[in-house]
Amino acid sequence: MAKILIIDDEPGIRTTLADILHDEGHRTTLCESGEEGLAQYAREEVDLIILDLWLPGIDGMAVLERLRAAGAPPVIVVSGHGNVDTAVRATRLGAYDFLEKPLSLERVLLTVNHALADRRLREQVRDLRRHLTLEELLIGESDVMKKLDQQVRSAAPSNSRVLITGENGSGKEIVARNLHRLSHRAEQPFIDVNCAAIPEELIESELFGHRKGAFTGAIDERKGKFELADGGTLFLDEIGDMSLKTQAKVLRVLQEQTFQKVGGQQTITVDVRVIAATNKDLEAEIGGGSFRSDLYYRLNVIPIEVPPLRTRGNDIVLLAEYFLRRFAAESGAPRKKLSAGAATKLRAYHWPGNVRELRNVIERLAILLPGETIEAEDIQLGTRAEAVAPIAANLTLKEARDEFEKQYILARLKELAGNVSRTADALGVERSNLYRKLHAYGIRVERP
Ligand SMILES: Nc1ncnc2c1ncn2[C@@H]1O[C@H](COP(=O)(O)OP(=O)(O)OP(=O)(O)O)[C@@H](O)[C@H]1O
Ligand SMILES: [Mg+2]
Repeated sequence: MAKILIIDDEPGIRTTLADILHDEGHRTTLCESGEEGLAQYAREEVDLIILDLWLPGIDGMAVLERLRAAGAPPVIVVSGHGNVDTAVRATRLGAYDFLEKPLSLERVLLTVNHALADRRLREQVRDLRRHLTLEELLIGESDVMKKLDQQVRSAAPSNSRVLITGENGSGKEIVARNLHRLSHRAEQPFIDVNCAAIPEELIESELFGHRKGAFTGAIDERKGKFELADGGTLFLDEIGDMSLKTQAKVLRVLQEQTFQKVGGQQTITVDVRVIAATNKDLEAEIGGGSFRSDLYYRLNVIPIEVPPLRTRGNDIVLLAEYFLRRFAAESGAPRKKLSAGAATKLRAYHWPGNVRELRNVIERLAILLPGETIEAEDIQLGTRAEAVAPIAANLTLKEARDEFEKQYILARLKELAGNVSRTADALGVERSNLYRKLHAYGIRVERP
């Protein structure tokens, strides 16, 4: 059954259309002018609109334009016999199709069915897009990431609570979204709450909602995140930053699956799967008295640990290439490539900010670098305080030795303003030897 809005000034046509559409099981709303039709559309969403182009007052073409601008569903226009120009103009303005007067009922039904099928398809595509957005794609082929993927796939379909731990920017939120997407609750809402970002005095109302007038500023009754997530998944992010008082309240909901709104008496029951995440060591927090152990055990039914980026070997390069592809696609600019030296430099770095840091580094290069190829020298990593960036455990001994040697030479050269003789002295090697190494590592000496 669909809801169809009919805008036509001829009463005979309105009722004929309404009759055949009712016979097909649809619901109709009838309007006799453009003004009335627009007002009705603003009041109630419909699945399809049938619009006469010849109307008293505001003309059908103008109505069509406004409907399209408002993002209306498909509009089928009705035009006088032989009025092909008008029909073409309407199609250009975004009409789905046109019907000629006198109306053939068979053709009306056919066109309506096509338009409705088309709308359903578009909605499905939109839903699919919503379900697997780029923000949910977990890139990685390393053993640790394969293991993570397996854990996510086996934990997702169960209703168990999951506690995701991992360093900053390692992908905890992506993991949570995948757990939801691959669960039986995928069609239901995924609601996330950043426990660290909400002020202490608001978090209860945020989680449980409030009644009108429960506190100053509570002008309306409001649903909390637990209620919004009913049937779906509630993602409690940065759970380690939740106050002890709020922890006690959350614990009660987890035990009883019921709660009350702030200022409310009525008990609300919900069916919510809770997934929590933190970059803190909760066992240490428990030891320090800032996290409740009973809440920890309730949340930590299935633990999932997201590995730090520096342990993912060549995934670093895969991710960098993936981000280069994405930024190129988003900006329309040609995709930049990584030189072999640049790839090694990325793999060698220890990535304290994990995937988020890598993404930022690549984004900067994608935007700022004029050339097509990213060389090792173009990449600035870490803080300036670290002359030689710590080297991660992804390299062979030879690669690591070369990487260290190269970075060390670069750092000393910089300190000594690019003076090769003084750098050779400082490093205790022959000048010719240093030149050979500079050449081998592709280091060009720029003297100020
Ligand atoms: N395996 C991956 N593949 C593709 N993108 C990823 C991957 N892991 C993380 N990202 C991207 O890196 C960024 C950080 O990921 P996310 O927000 O999930 O990390 P987090 O662990 O929740 O970070 P924080 O601790 O700071 O909250 C996001 O933009 C995310 O899309
Ligand atoms: Mg996060």
